[in-house]
Amino acid sequence: MKTYFLAAALAVFPISLFAKPISVNVAVEASDEVIHRNIYGQFMEHLGRGIDEGVWVGVDSKIPNIEGYRKDVLQALKDLKVPLLRWPGGCFADEYHWRDGVGPLSERKRTVNTTWGGVENNHFGTHEFMRFAELLGAEVYINGNLGTGTPREMAAWLEYMTSDSDSTLANLRRQNGRDKPWKVHYFAIGNEAWGCGGTMTPKYYADLYRHYATFMKTPADNKPIMIASGGHTDQTEWTQTLLEHVPKTWSLRMDAISHHYYTLPTGDWDKHGAALGFDENMWHQTLHQSLKLEGYIKENIAIMDKLDPDNTIGFYLDEWGTWYDTEEGDSALYQQNTLRDAVVASINLDMFHHYARRIQMSNIAQMVNVLQAMILTDGEKMLLTPTYHVFKMYTPFQDAKRVDVSIKRNPDYKINGKEIPTLSASAGQDEDGNHWLAITNLHASKSQEVRLNKPWASAQGQLLTAEELDAHNTFEKPNNLVPVSFTAVAKDGELKFQLPAKSVVVVQLQ
Ligand code: AHR
Repeated sequence: MKTYFLAAALAVFPISLFAKPISVNVAVEASDEVIHRNIYGQFMEHLGRGIDEGVWVGVDSKIPNIEGYRKDVLQALKDLKVPLLRWPGGCFADEYHWRDGVGPLSERKRTVNTTWGGVENNHFGTHEFMRFAELLGAEVYINGNLGTGTPREMAAWLEYMTSDSDSTLANLRRQNGRDKPWKVHYFAIGNEAWGCGGTMTPKYYADLYRHYATFMKTPADNKPIMIASGGHTDQTEWTQTLLEHVPKTWSLRMDAISHHYYTLPTGDWDKHGAALGFDENMWHQTLHQSLKLEGYIKENIAIMDKLDPDNTIGFYLDEWGTWYDTEEGDSALYQQNTLRDAVVASINLDMFHHYARRIQMSNIAQMVNVLQAMILTDGEKMLLTPTYHVFKMYTPFQDAKRVDVSIKRNPDYKINGKEIPTLSASAGQDEDGNHWLAITNLHASKSQEVRLNKPWASAQGQLLTAEELDAHNTFEKPNNLVPVSFTAVAKDGELKFQLPAKSVVVVQLQ
């Protein structure tokens, strides 16, 4: 009879219900580190349908728009509280000549987009980008052209954007419809100098950085945070060389070093892996690949801590996200976005929260229709991706104080000899004093019970999960995968809850 009962119980409840709960400790006292809202930055490049169609349709389009920006996308991004926009690239930045994109639309140059293909009509230029950021209430990050530009061209762009004087460039801006200068919050000198930005050595780039940055002069009250283009993946020599060779002088600043890391399921640039239709092995391998970033961050931060012990220079992940074999070819980089992307997003955001001391900015690649996008469009149709939903669930962390979280005996999730942790978590305290916990179950098939420390007595927020590993939204079923509400209340003084397999939860603790 006993045996029968156990067998019946096992048939009804998943085995993990009987697994021991994992203790997760969330501190009450916040640290003095702030999770900078610009960790939630977005990236938009003249690539595929990332800008044209994705954001910009022009005033004459039949797609409903406000001043040429599509209405649906604008609203969705407002709801997401996008804090920062990086533009115009990417690789495109090092071939972008800003004068091609100012003045009457009919007179704008048509230029070959030598990086991503096609001809660029330059209708979305400086004014259109700045206005878009203004409509969103976002800060701006302009990526300057080092690869094919000159210090004169770069300095002139900054003058055009920031000068309130009676100079010819400031007057040209006025003539083109903008009276007051814009605030330029961030400015980068080149992009991926090791590759598409000029195939340079770290030392050569460091010398060029010194040269160019010296001439990037702006009014005293409009000084952008100056960003040097760093390395990618496991590289540390760019961080090291830049810190050793770029001095701080009265005329030269390097406020941050950027770094890029893309998650390829296979880790192989020749065959990245598919966006849909993958198995548990590929699920696990993708998360394993993504989590490698933590090691790369640690190694770079260790160098920074040695060479910049006062923590005056930031480490910015200004390109990150998944990169699959894409649907419209390598020149468009359009890919679907599934529950797996949602988990990649949450584990990376947790990571950035942990290293908030140095990582004060990140830009997921890219905002619309390109790589790990927030939004996909098909002509007039639009959908929000699982990654969008995670970013939305995480909005309470923008500018929150980082709170320590520890996971006791986080079990390994092992496949083919490779291990990843079962849980990922991070916490913060918002400006109103509320505590927030983000917690992800990386395991594809096992749910996991979690027990929180006292004094936490309730958890309320949202949960994102699905049956299929590649659950996603389509234009026919745009709400196939959306967050649902999630509540847990302490019983007998203990706050415990079940985290479904492959799920992301963000809750307010009380
Ligand atoms: O995000 C797509 C491309 O990836 C960017 O243009 C480039 O910087 C990186 O290699």
